[in-house]
Amino acid sequence: MHAVTLDRFDTGTPHPARRYNYWLGGKDNFAADRESGDVLARAYPAARIAARANRAFLGRAVGYLAGDAGLRQFLDIGTGLPTADNTHEVAQRIAPDSRIVYVDNDPMVMVHARALLTSTAEGETRYLEQDLRQPKSILESLDILDLSRPVGLMLVAVIHFLPSQEEARSIVSTLVDALPSGSHLTMSCATTDFLTPDLRANWDESLRSGRSDVHPRTRAEFSEFFTGLEFVSPGAVAVSEWRPDPGAEERPGPVEASIFGAVARKP
Ligand SMILES: C[S@@+](CC[C@H](N)C(=O)[O-])C[C@H]1O[C@@H](n2cnc3c(N)ncnc32)[C@H](O)[C@@H]1O
Repeated sequence: MHAVTLDRFDTGTPHPARRYNYWLGGKDNFAADRESGDVLARAYPAARIAARANRAFLGRAVGYLAGDAGLRQFLDIGTGLPTADNTHEVAQRIAPDSRIVYVDNDPMVMVHARALLTSTAEGETRYLEQDLRQPKSILESLDILDLSRPVGLMLVAVIHFLPSQEEARSIVSTLVDALPSGSHLTMSCATTDFLTPDLRANWDESLRSGRSDVHPRTRAEFSEFFTGLEFVSPGAVAVSEWRPDPGAEERPGPVEASIFGAVARKP
């Protein structure tokens, strides 16, 4: 099959959103995404389990934010292709008046944005096709959010696409600095901290050879993103260990999950 390229819509190049969709068992992906997903899964066989554990973390974190933390506004950057329990669905089930701005830089997410815009009548959702690397531009486009009231900033499984820790830290600070006290930062990020030396070497080799674009962070590096914030219990842990649902069928260990997750409050 030939790759289809319509302007920026390139199906011949693997894209994180579509590869993640493949790992989650979705159908919104192309051959290049499936091949890339299989290559990465050879280096790190638990990739599919990790993708599901990460998605479940996102749902539990939004449940906490809309529930216990009482947030009614969310900025979800690195949205991904719509699947079950998108941020607005979880938040608006708890608080129908929740407002959500989604941001992603993959044009294919834009194609599916209709599914992200099915807000309750009381709330509102927006979708912006923008890049996390331009945080000021994102902040200037948040017309449906009131930045004098707390916001739940979601950076779930997106920061590891930025190779530079310095750039990533600066972006997260710019976003957090723009939000008022009571806002929360929710982040997850791939790590090789829990892996055996062999699996870690595989991962490093995939990055060196350009077959992977997922840049893991150590616990210390992940924790740096939360400087000045107060961790919500249990702090920075494998996503599967963050307030696990006791009734969940699947609860992978840290080695399989291999993604750090945390929620923290801005004092
Ligand atoms: C692995 S998916 C995560 C989806 C969702 N947050 C979740 O955790 O279920 C990563 C998403 O981040 C998006 N992304 C990657 N780099 C980005 C960037 N620089 N700016 C905006 N979005 C980006 C990808 O297009 C993809 O949709």
